[in-house]
Amino acid sequence: MSGVNYIQKPNLIFILWLSISLSSVSQVAALPADLEIGRDIFHKHCKACHGDKGDGKTFAANVLNPPPKNFTAEESKKTLTTARMILSVTKGRKGTAMMPWESNLTGAEIRAVVNYIRKELMQLGD
Ligand code: HEC
Repeated sequence: MSGVNYIQKPNLIFILWLSISLSSVSQVAALPADLEIGRDIFHKHCKACHGDKGDGKTFAANVLNPPPKNFTAEESKKTLTTARMILSVTKGRKGTAMMPWESNLTGAEIRAVVNYIRKELMQLGD
């Protein structure tokens, strides 16, 4: 956690991507169809950094500065609006490991994964 700059560590980025690809298979309880799409995307593309539960407690968190967002923190529930999350996922967060997803995911897929994070991981009602 001592301020490792991920840009200077391409091998770590490679390991992250490898673990993302390897973590795509998962078996969990059934959800409504739209949330299931969001969950599949989250498990395939996001959980290596953000964690199964969205709490950011991952191997990746040890080497990323700033660390991946802990969606379950009260602070996140207060500050992360739906619009902000969609924008951050679409365009990424400059200067962080949170990359833009607009060329990998459709607008509908981005909305689905944000909806999944908010409903299932952040436990927000909207
Ligand atoms: C390589 C690691 C990595 C992956 C993969 C990743 N994220 Fe992130 N994410 C981060 C980091 C690091 C931050 C913190 C950025 C910051 O502090 O500004 C973050 C922040 C976020 C935020 C909060 C942004 C804000 O406005 O503060 C959202 C929402 C988010 N990620 C969603 C996703 C989704 C959805 C996916 C999958 C499609 C994903 N992330 C994949 C590393 C990752």
